[in-house]
Amino acid sequence: EVSRALFEPIKLRGLEVRNRIWVPPMCQYVVDKQDGVPVAWHLMHYGSLARGGAGGVVVEATGVVPEGRISPQDLGLWNDHQRDAFAPIVELVHAQGAKLGIQLAHAGRKGSVYREWGTEAPGTSVPVSEGGWQTVAPSAVAFPGLAEPAALDQAGIDRVAAAFAAAARRAVDAGFDFVQVHGAHGYLLHEFLSPLSNHRTDSYGGTLENRARLLLQVVDAIRAEVGQAMPIAVRLSATEWVAGGFDIDETVTVVRWLGQHGADFVDISTGGNVKQAPIPVGPGYQVPYATAVKKATGVTTSTVGMIDSAFQAEQIVATGLADIVMVGREFLRDPSFALRAAETLQVAVGYIPAPYRRAYRR
Ligand code: FNR
Repeated sequence: EVSRALFEPIKLRGLEVRNRIWVPPMCQYVVDKQDGVPVAWHLMHYGSLARGGAGGVVVEATGVVPEGRISPQDLGLWNDHQRDAFAPIVELVHAQGAKLGIQLAHAGRKGSVYREWGTEAPGTSVPVSEGGWQTVAPSAVAFPGLAEPAALDQAGIDRVAAAFAAAARRAVDAGFDFVQVHGAHGYLLHEFLSPLSNHRTDSYGGTLENRARLLLQVVDAIRAEVGQAMPIAVRLSATEWVAGGFDIDETVTVVRWLGQHGADFVDISTGGNVKQAPIPVGPGYQVPYATAVKKATGVTTSTVGMIDSAFQAEQIVATGLADIVMVGREFLRDPSFALRAAETLQVAVGYIPAPYRRAYRR
């Protein structure tokens, strides 16, 4: 048996997590009643990821307001009924020894679209007559192919920040261990950060300080609501892969500000705000962005994107390229990926579920 960096516990504020193989947020699009309330699938899905040895699991993008969902089948946390339905999921995940976070999200101009499967035109705008909604954004500039959003006014902006805080409060009350603010992938907070989608001339547009104002307002509002105990994570897109977009230098500056505002860790992704950007996708292609952020800011950083083998994940953490590795699609293929990685890396972990022990050592 050997010790491996990937399986060292990590501490975030008061929260100790058993390892550094985590599951990033991934939309499941299974809320058929379109009321944002988790269903049996979510209990099974998140429970199995926890049983499979992940340290931290982040629940998929969850709307802080109804119009903050991506598709009508997304989760929500804008009412107490939703909160109460999350509690058994948290309990099951905790019983498997994992920690559960939730990605609090507002889809902005990329909201109100048909889910990716089971519909005729996945990813296109759902009309209001079919259960869609008027989307909102920093400016009335449509994402190519989608309906035109309405520009938020100051009252609308303040309501967004208050909704993030109220959802975070419900997350605490449901037993979640941390929250992740969705500031990536071309959704509302990223739309504010990017000069490509933010054409405002008030105090929320123009300079980086102005474009980052809403994100920091959201983090401050959450912190004021949840108190000092709960870790706050933020997911960012560190580049848009085109000139003139929100880029790695601006990301580093924003992460420094986030650190000063009490955010505990950042999850570094890329893209999402530019349709068909030329993204050089390949194994670990986003790792250099996480490393740049971690080295420049000292803020705890996770990386994500085409990391699907135990040795690849181990190398990233062991050589200090990132503190945490988020593994998405490989965990969908194999919910026991973390236990399998422990076996591959010959690490003795204490959290192998009893029935799985018979299968663990060949
Ligand atoms: C995603 N991703 C994603 N990201 C996010 O921030 N919030 C979300 O809700 C979702 N939803 C989602 C659904 C599905 C089905 C997939 C495959 C992906 C992106 C995801 O978190 C991750 O960043 C990417 O999948 C890249 O990592 P992998 O899959 O290459 O390990």
